[in-house]
Amino acid sequence: MRNSYLFLKESRIMSHPVGQKILVTGSTGDIGRRLVAQLSRDGHPVVAMCRKPEQIADFEQHGIEAVFGDLEKPASIAKALQACDRMFLLTVAGRAQQEHGRHGVEAAQAAGIRHVVHLSTGDANPNSPIPWANAPAHTDAVLKQRSGSWTILRPSAFMQNLVQSAVPIKKGVFPQTAGRGVLAWIDTEDIARVAATVLTNEGHEGKEYYLTGPELLTMSDVASHLTAVLNYPVRHLHLPGPLFFLALRAGGLDSWTARGLVHQFIDVVRKGHDFGDLITDTVHVLTGTPARSVREYLVENRAAFAR
Ligand SMILES: NC(=O)c1ccc[n+]([C@@H]2O[C@H](COP(=O)([O-])OP(=O)(O)OC[C@H]3O[C@@H](n4cnc5c(N)ncnc54)[C@H](OP(=O)(O)O)[C@@H]3O)[C@@H](O)[C@H]2O)c1
Repeated sequence: MRNSYLFLKESRIMSHPVGQKILVTGSTGDIGRRLVAQLSRDGHPVVAMCRKPEQIADFEQHGIEAVFGDLEKPASIAKALQACDRMFLLTVAGRAQQEHGRHGVEAAQAAGIRHVVHLSTGDANPNSPIPWANAPAHTDAVLKQRSGSWTILRPSAFMQNLVQSAVPIKKGVFPQTAGRGVLAWIDTEDIARVAATVLTNEGHEGKEYYLTGPELLTMSDVASHLTAVLNYPVRHLHLPGPLFFLALRAGGLDSWTARGLVHQFIDVVRKGHDFGDLITDTVHVLTGTPARSVREYLVENRAAFAR
């Protein structure tokens, strides 16, 4: 079953005082499932918000409380929050992302949630042409206005995104349009560790944390790491924006997402706008463990790129 390896194999649903639980939205996604697993392992009272009965059943089978909730449906979020006093809010890229963020914040406010941790993004900007940098910036603003206590996490690009390029990588090419721009890729495991820390400790209220991996890499550097770990040569292929767009479309991506990615890799990575070339040691400072490197990520996920 998907992601089951992350959960405790033998446990029962633990009972915790009503009104003191942590609701995790996005609980079946990359960050959320890792966060739920970590909170659960550490004995914190966590509730996974899910959209499908089989997801709820999967969590419950692993001893983790789960409830129905959809950011599209405000009443369902209100219901999911009933026994909670903290919330991890994550919205996904899409045309309704801004609305989903507002729904989450409003439901938290109505439920009297003590602390909301919002998974925003490092390049959040209300004027950005990149939809998934624009929408979270609006949610950040609503959160600051309407929530008594909040923390905002601003991660850089996820190492897990590299899997989206697995098809060309297996052919020996890593196509990009970032030129010599640099990026401090981060592992979602590190984001989840930070989220768990700020949700379960005091002192993070009103803070905005930029989270990055431990090294700034050009796309050629990434190709070198791929070559070293995968034992076959991978070269970085720089494409001008319009060609990169066509390559993304040929790979099956819709034009809305492809256009956003072209903007992101040109404006944020190639040109370094909106903190695209930022590197921080915040993961290490907050969790006591250094952020994982691209090399470590690739070694662990070699199978995803195996020919
Ligand atoms: N990728 C990057 O490089 C990057 C960098 C910075 C920030 N971010 C931000 O990170 C977030 C994505 O995190 P992720 O990779 O962990 O996500 P993910 O793996 O794509 O998972 C998305 C989660 O959101 C849930 N979801 C989707 N629609 C929902 C709805 N209407 N109501 C409630 N839940 C819903 C999904 O549930 P189902 O299983 O039901 O679909 C799933 O649990 C986005 O906000 C993105 O902008 C990404």
